[in-house]
Parts: sequence; C-alpha cells; structure tokens
Amino acid sequence: MVEFDTVYNRRNTNCSKWDSIKDTYGEDGLLPLWIADMDFKANTPVLEALKKTAEQGILGYSPAPDSLYEAIQDWQKRHHDYSISKEAILFNSGVVPSLSLAIQAYTEPGDAVLIHDPVYPPFAKVVEQNNRKLVRSQLLIDQEHFIMDLDTLEKQIVAENIRLFILCNPHNPGGRVWTKSELEAFGKLCAKYDVLVISDEIHQDLIFAPNVFTTFSNVHSTFKDFSITLTAATKSFNLAGTKNSMIFIENPDLRKKFIDAQERNFQNEINIFGYVGTEAAYRHGDNWLKELLIYLNENIVTVSEFLKSELPEVKMMCPEGTYLIWLDFSAFGLTDAQLQKQLIHKGKVVLNPGISFGPSGTQHMRLNVACPKETLIEGLHRIKLSFE
Ligand SMILES: Cc1ncc(COP(=O)(O)O)c(C=O)c1O
Repeated sequence: MVEFDTVYNRRNTNCSKWDSIKDTYGEDGLLPLWIADMDFKANTPVLEALKKTAEQGILGYSPAPDSLYEAIQDWQKRHHDYSISKEAILFNSGVVPSLSLAIQAYTEPGDAVLIHDPVYPPFAKVVEQNNRKLVRSQLLIDQEHFIMDLDTLEKQIVAENIRLFILCNPHNPGGRVWTKSELEAFGKLCAKYDVLVISDEIHQDLIFAPNVFTTFSNVHSTFKDFSITLTAATKSFNLAGTKNSMIFIENPDLRKKFIDAQERNFQNEINIFGYVGTEAAYRHGDNWLKELLIYLNENIVTVSEFLKSELPEVKMMCPEGTYLIWLDFSAFGLTDAQLQKQLIHKGKVVLNPGISFGPSGTQHMRLNVACPKETLIEGLHRIKLSFE
C-alpha cells in the first residue's frame, strides 16, 4: 500500500511548484495547485536505484544501457500494445526540448505549425520562439468534453499551408484521452495534406478506466510514416527533475533528420539519473502506478462533489486521464486578471491561468490534483473563499 496521504513539506526544497510562487506572486503562504508535478514521493525501487547510482561515487558520462531500451520496449508493449524497435528509440532531456528540435528538424522559419486551443502553453512558445507561424485550432465542447473540430481544421490546413501539427495525446489541460477512432479521423486528414504529426504522449500512463490510451503512430500501419512520438516516465512517476524523455521515430528519414538536429544542438547526452530512474520506474512501477491512479481518481471525485455542493458556479471538465482539471469560472463574469487576483490575494491559492493555454482558455483555470487529500481539500476551501 503506497502512502499518498502523507503531507510532505516541500517548502525550501528548491522545487518550482512551492518555492517559485513568492517570486511570481509576491506573497507568502499561497497554496500551489499549479505546476504539473506531484506532491508524492517517488516509488521506493526508483529511489533505491538512484541512491545506488550515487553511491558508485563516480558520475561520469553515461550512455543509455541496453537494459533501459528493454525496459522501455517492455513497458510500451505491456501498457500500450505498442511494439517499438530499439533503433527507433532516441533520448533527450525533456519532451519540450524535443518539441523544439522537431520544429527545427522538420520545418523552415516562417512555416505554419498548428496546435489546439487550449493546449499546454510551451507548444505555442516553441513554435513562436523558433520563428514559425503559429496557428491555433479551437477545440469544441461536446457533452462537457473537448472534441476536435475537424472541418475547421481541414480548412486551416489548406488556407495556412500547415506543415506540422503538435498533438497533445492525452490532452492537457482538458484530460481528454483521444479515442482510436478520433485519432484515426484526425490522422487521415493530416496524411491527406502531408502534415507531419508530433504527438506529445507524456501523460500516456495516467489514464482512468474505462478510457484507453492509443499511441498515435500505432493507430494505423501508415501513421508511423508521418509521425513521431514524444514521451517519458517522468510525469507518470514524478521524476520531472531527473530530466529524461524518449522520442520514438519509426520512419528512418524522419529519424535521421531528428538526430541531425540533436547533434547540431548537442542534445544527445542525458543525465545519468534520468536513465536510471526511468528504467527502475518501468521495471518496478506497475503497482505504484495502479495505486496512484486510484488515488487520483478519488481526488477528482472529491473536487466534483465539492464544487457541486459548495461552489456550483464553477464547472469542471471531468478528466479521462492526467491529474489536471479544467475549471470554468465564467459564471462570475470576471476578467482573467480579476479572476487571478481573487484566487491569489483573497483565496491564497495558485492555479494555472486558463488564458495561458490559448485565447479560448479565458475565464478558466487549471487545477492540479496530484497532492494528498488534505492539501486538496484545503485548496478547494481556498478557491471557495476567493469568491465570498
Ligand atoms: C503535455 C506536456 N508535455 C510536456 C511536458 C513537460 O515535459 P518535459 O518536462 O519532459 O519537458 C508537460 C508537463 O507538464 C506536459 O503537460
């Protein structure tokens, strides 16, 4: 039994989630339910593997060992029914750095890149900071869930001459676990117009039954020809600070272009602790992950019940995966600045402003529920207090 209820004091541990809020908001005592890491300790076998590596004492340059490739292949096969060859697996320090490399590898300055709106904020940043043209495709809401607007998407692909799409699968901030048939329809459209798909699948293990995650490249035998997959164990197992991620590229031409970009940027050597943590998580993490998902699901139910009884003006999008909840505060009729001010200065609670996920995120906030119940309940009371 894993103790997810234990509240650890993360203040003054040099962690972004707790220790950067004073600098960001200029206030002490704020409760952070924002940045996407978890207030839980990593799985014991992972911590032991990291300690053992540190105890070797000599921490020189280190390539990815064969045993790590095997652990990744085994995990992908068992959890996602995805068979991946060793040669198709590359490493990098993070999914976001790989997004940037992919843009450099597959497009030219000025090319148009499409992303969903709303979506994880660094998608827009990497496109713009690489001097590509950012185009956003707004998600629609159907039965309180995001769905893709494929008709508009097709028009945008043609009108803007889109070269590349960055897909968030599963979706952050909406928690949508795109179904195989949704991905198939989306992928056929991309294939029709020669649009390359970069599929960010970092949340792939955080899925609540009966929803099923599907690797985009694995939807259809042809999809691997025009897509690459970015993923990691760091989100599922709370190892973000160890900086390790994988890129799966089955198409040899796409792989060569990515490797060239990595070499140009000297981004092909990774932190030894990242390799070790990832392998230990994949080899020994099944039960921990199973218990984590039960706990996260309970937290999501806690939020839903609290909002229904205590704060019915706030509408939540019930996530099918991830530990993130998209909250709609539009009933209060506040501007984004007012909404943020009330949460921070009145409620003393930090959520991610929805507007940072794209224009359609206005009057929304993203809540991170990967924390002990005690912390979450305190956070919910603070959210309520913000509007009293
Ligand atoms: C969709 C998505 N991609 C990437 C990342 C970050 O990945 P990394 O730390 O490997 O750069 C996050 C973190 O929250 C995320 O939600």
